Amino acid sequence: MNLASKHILVAGGTRGLGAAISRELARAGASVLANYVRNEEAAQKFLSDCRAASLPVEGARADLTSKGGLDSLTESLRTWLDGTSLDGLVFCAATGVHKPVDQLTDRHFDWTFALNVRALLALVNRLLPLFSDHVSVVPVSSLGARLVSPAYSLVGASKGALESLSRHLALELGSRGVRVNILCPGTIETDAWKVLPDAEERLATARQRSFLGRLVTLDEVAHVAAFLCSDASSGMSGATVVVDGGESLPM
Ligand SMILES: NC(=O)c1ccc[n+]([C@@H]2O[C@H](COP(=O)([O-])OP(=O)(O)OC[C@H]3O[C@@H](n4cnc5c(N)ncnc54)[C@H](OP(=O)(O)O)[C@@H]3O)[C@@H](O)[C@H]2O)c1
Repeated sequence: MNLASKHILVAGGTRGLGAAISRELARAGASVLANYVRNEEAAQKFLSDCRAASLPVEGARADLTSKGGLDSLTESLRTWLDGTSLDGLVFCAATGVHKPVDQLTDRHFDWTFALNVRALLALVNRLLPLFSDHVSVVPVSSLGARLVSPAYSLVGASKGALESLSRHLALELGSRGVRVNILCPGTIETDAWKVLPDAEERLATARQRSFLGRLVTLDEVAHVAAFLCSDASSGMSGATVVVDGGESLPM
């Protein structure tokens, strides 16, 4: 995938899948601004590894759920772009509260949707003036947007909303040269799983369901993100690309 001379922002880009995507985009020639918020230590380690590998990845700390964070990221981005425009936005940041429905509160709902849905719209609207005329937006969803899973109702609902919002962005911004394609990975082993008490059981089920007999890897998903950011996918918009080794297909 050739991403030479492209400037791409990866929201939630220094840890887990986001880090793998930032690295892959940079390997393909893009300059990458990787956003994060809380995990400074992981971010600094990732950025230093990128520097050691001569990959052009810079970091930008900002909370995408707050006005101050969005303002600060827009300013960092403007400085980083230095007069050029933004060719890609991968929206990989996500959060969520994993509880049974009868334990969920308004606060849990607002916390989850503020990042997983609202922040995408807020980011796109703020960054529109900085977008190039062939920008690619890649929101990262999950199988939970379509399938059900215990204690996943809020994250699943937020991903369903994220997907619908993404298709509407694709529709309404297409005439301005904005392409929006949803990347939907299957189960991948990241830190996100550590918060679930039954993680091992769920990971084992996902492995069994996959036609490949294993989970998809971070790099396999990152390659598809690079494709969606590249001109090779210029004819695609409003699509959902599932990278799950067949895990989600009903038998
Ligand atoms: N893991 C899976 O099995 C799986 C499957 C399908 C889809 N996905 C999706 O893939 C994406 C990445 O997943 P992951 O497993 O790598 O997740 P993760 O390890 O939990 O990483 C979440 C990322 O979001 C960032 N973030 C959280 N709150 C933020 C905020 N308020 N502002 C800005 N950034 C914020 C985190 O930054 P810090 O590093 O600063 O904490 C981190 O980079 C998510 O959209 C997830 O839903 C994951």
